[in-house]
Amino acid sequence: MNVLKIEELYKVHSGNVLVSALNGISFDLQSEERVGIMGPSGSGKTTLLNIVSTIDEPTSGQVIITGNDTGRIPFHERSLIRRKLGFVFQNFNLLDNLTVRENITLPLVMNSFKANEITVRLEKVADQLNMKSILDKYVFELSGGQAQRVAIARAIIHTPFLILADEPTGNLDSKTSRDVMELLCNVQETEKSAMLLVTHDPVIASYCHRVIFLKDGKIVNEIHQGENRQTFFQRIIDLLSLLEGDLR
Ligand SMILES: Nc1ncnc2c1ncn2[C@@H]1O[C@H](COP(=O)(O)OP(=O)(O)OP(=O)(O)O)[C@@H](O)[C@H]1O
Ligand SMILES: [Mg+2]
Repeated sequence: MNVLKIEELYKVHSGNVLVSALNGISFDLQSEERVGIMGPSGSGKTTLLNIVSTIDEPTSGQVIITGNDTGRIPFHERSLIRRKLGFVFQNFNLLDNLTVRENITLPLVMNSFKANEITVRLEKVADQLNMKSILDKYVFELSGGQAQRVAIARAIIHTPFLILADEPTGNLDSKTSRDVMELLCNVQETEKSAMLLVTHDPVIASYCHRVIFLKDGKIVNEIHQGENRQTFFQRIIDLLSLLEGDLR
């Protein structure tokens, strides 16, 4: 199933200076597919994710999520689309003074899910992400890796079609990054959702089936994982150094 279709997306940010952040981006994402977005700082990665998540609007072009053209949906109906999405951010975006349990279930409580449905879903994600023992802790008591697992649990508890992650391991050490990424991939595979993941880390990108490279708001390359993750990792590194002009 085609989960996401992006067509000729352009974005000009209007501040003091006009910035063309996206200059004609088109690609598709199928269910169960994991696609990485890489590229130098300022290449438009976060702008792209914010537009897909309907937090921001494109200047022109289309974002079609599970067949719905987001540009044609009235503002008050955007929440229906957002319910199909799960967000994971670099800084976790958790509420410090709530417990882990409260943070994870907040989206369900706000969407008026029934109490027993909430309990069943919480049990399931806590199991998948191996976090039953921390459910009653407060967020400020958690390690970075634990906090990111909570953020992932919150992003997937409503079984989204599409997980959007912007530097989900950006604040973690490399071992914890890999652990968190493996959990995220496991959940995504089990739930058969699609994932669009922005990362600067070639190791994290090598977990994707496909990596799209942006430069100056354009797609400049796209590579597929194929058989071997180690070879894929090396190809990612080679392309990144080319892109960043680092040819020492
Ligand atoms: N709200 C905004 N207003 C004005 N300009 C913006 C805004 N957001 C981003 N930009 C500009 O758009 C361009 C793309 O920014 P974006 O945040 O998408 O890059 P990025 O690829 O995510 O970079 P990074 O790797 O540093 O996170 C940059 O030149 C940035 O300065
Ligand atoms: Mg960014």
